[in-house]
Amino acid sequence: MRKYFLILFTILLFAVTGFVPTPQQNSSEETIAERVDSVLALMTLEEKIGQLNQLSFGIGWGPTVKVSVPDEYKQQIREGKIGSFLNAIGAEFTYELQKVAVQESRLKIPLIFGLDVIHGFKTTFPVPLGEAATWQPEIVEMSAHYQAIESASAGIHWTFSPMVDIARDPRWGRIMEGAGEDPYLGSLMAAAHVRGYQGDLSDLNIIACVKHYAGYGGAEGGRDYNTVDMSERTFRDIYLPPYKAGVEAGAHTLMASFNELGGIPASGSKYLLNDILREEWGFKGFVVSDWNSIGEMINHGYASDLKHAGEISLNAGLDMDMESRSYITHLKQLVEEDKVDEDVIDESVRRILRIKFMLGLFDDPFRYCQKEREEKNIMTSDIKIASLEVAKRSFVLLKNDKNILPLKKDYKKIAVIGPLANNSIDPIGGWGGLGDSADVTTVLEGFKNYVDKKTQVLYSEGCKIDDPSTKGFKDAVNIAKKSDVIILCVGESRDMSGEACSRSSLDLPGVQEDLAKELLKTGKPIIVVLMNGRPMSINWLNDNANAILETWFAGTMTGDAIAKVLFGDYNPSGKLPVTFPRTVGQVPIYYNHKNTGRPGDLKNHYTSKYLDLPLTPLYPFGFGLSYTTFEYNDFKLSTNKITNEDSIIVSVKVKNTGNYDGEEVVQLYVQDLVGSVTRPVKELKGFKKIMLKRGEEKTMDFTIHEKDLRFTAADMKFKSEPGLFKVFVGTNSVDLKESQFELVE
Ligand code: GLC
Repeated sequence: MRKYFLILFTILLFAVTGFVPTPQQNSSEETIAERVDSVLALMTLEEKIGQLNQLSFGIGWGPTVKVSVPDEYKQQIREGKIGSFLNAIGAEFTYELQKVAVQESRLKIPLIFGLDVIHGFKTTFPVPLGEAATWQPEIVEMSAHYQAIESASAGIHWTFSPMVDIARDPRWGRIMEGAGEDPYLGSLMAAAHVRGYQGDLSDLNIIACVKHYAGYGGAEGGRDYNTVDMSERTFRDIYLPPYKAGVEAGAHTLMASFNELGGIPASGSKYLLNDILREEWGFKGFVVSDWNSIGEMINHGYASDLKHAGEISLNAGLDMDMESRSYITHLKQLVEEDKVDEDVIDESVRRILRIKFMLGLFDDPFRYCQKEREEKNIMTSDIKIASLEVAKRSFVLLKNDKNILPLKKDYKKIAVIGPLANNSIDPIGGWGGLGDSADVTTVLEGFKNYVDKKTQVLYSEGCKIDDPSTKGFKDAVNIAKKSDVIILCVGESRDMSGEACSRSSLDLPGVQEDLAKELLKTGKPIIVVLMNGRPMSINWLNDNANAILETWFAGTMTGDAIAKVLFGDYNPSGKLPVTFPRTVGQVPIYYNHKNTGRPGDLKNHYTSKYLDLPLTPLYPFGFGLSYTTFEYNDFKLSTNKITNEDSIIVSVKVKNTGNYDGEEVVQLYVQDLVGSVTRPVKELKGFKKIMLKRGEEKTMDFTIHEKDLRFTAADMKFKSEPGLFKVFVGTNSVDLKESQFELVE
């Protein structure tokens, strides 16, 4: 009775006072649980199954683009057969859909609208790999916060982000969507995204969705959707931590992945969806499948048909079915055949209704469908400034010979050349939401915005990104010859990374390198601006260009960000979140590798190496230069012996010894020298990004506790083991100062 009273009270309260308690007023778990159960008690089995069904709209958005609601969807909504849509966008359009649900269906249960807001809704931020290169979780949180404001203002309740899949193989196109190869950095970025999107779930926040659970980035050969097979230990110590970090940060949903893991498709894995997620981690939210990932278990050879797939997934703990339509088609029959228990369905429905209550959708189903907010909150100057800030910080300076950068401001003529020089489409990057090329500032435009009238900016495309024609070379060379310096903008198209975009090569596509070689013959200095969604084997550019700035895909503010950094308004501070191989033949190559019994030694034939390559990558994890220089001194430990109860303070003095104020990411790594299983040669355990003015010196302290030394030991327990450890501090994963300490019982 009490449950019904609560609902009645809320209705009366609104009727009398117009006051609608916002989610926060009703946010106690107990209240929500009671309200959920009161709704569940009224639902038929068909209506329950409808809540587990998510369908998609093609993307159509904007006040002028009226996307009508197809009658077949309206009827299904009326009958309570759909609980969620993805790709339904816009205050007006989502209002139309929600109106059908809450005014024309029997129980008036609101819909929840999801969208892939990965690095921007309309204002595009740098791709997540670029955001990770900031090594600033607070910047990533800010980015997610602004993405949420735009999305929530356009009717979106829920983003299918952050993507937290660890990626050690740059052939995999989705490396662009994540935070790279390291579990520590990836975990911090996962949590930052969740905080930024969800905030306190006030009305300009959206629900996060940690994906793709789990291990999707371990696809063999870097080929998307491919088999993932790894030891339980590697899975738990390298690939799993960022998902856990997202859950611990309070993510309310996860997305199950396409891949199999050790022979079991993730979307049907009770081990993943229940044992780890719910029993080990205590996750209370809900899990949505990836697009038809339930149905794809037939291809996997794990389900005999769509009905069997639905039975497997629901019983494994997968709550919502994205677009396979297995649940809506077969669950009722599966209940009648006692293959699925209605109680299991009830549990999934509870999880979904709980999130709808937390979003306040039962109190005010239209709170996200306010046209005036949509017009006011999208592509605002604040959000563009934020995007510019994130972009500048995402750039990584890979080379700067003879300090040619920052550019002098008295150049008479600057040649901006290349297929990405005046390109407003590709800088948006993959999964660009509703990012519009019309809003993008190209590099050419950025330079023209920046320089004064004494400097002329010349332009030539030179070649396409991925086309064999060299007919544009002549014009490019002519332009270059007239100029003082060449800004060469090369890399990949936005469609060469992201989903289903694995590449077998890490080289520059097309004839871009040939163009660079022609331009080198002019004798003019070449500053390379690299735009890409993955590590690239730019060996020739590294050997011959004067400077290289890694800019990933920097989004709406690309051109202004690049011009400001190259001219020194902002001193680049990014560090690589992923190793750059010299060639695809070196893959996999990552910093936290094992030592092996025969560590690579080019002077010793019988060791782990290639005959035709150095042992090292082109650029190591954590690498990034600055316009200034930093010196590390006075590296010391507070003690050389700790027990499980105490800790070590690691300190080092960092001095800005160059001519520019600048930021440095001071990195802390640890190596467990002997373990019950072999251990990585080093693992990132901390970092701090600091600003140092010219000549300034700061002492950086890090604290190492016993818990920081834990791993999945031989007995599969997550624990530390006594013994000797090395500790490293430095500017990247290679240039490090080293010391040692002991963990004793
Ligand atoms: C895609 C992607 C996933 C995305 C989903 C909805 O196939 O794998 O990342 O969130 O479908 O668009």
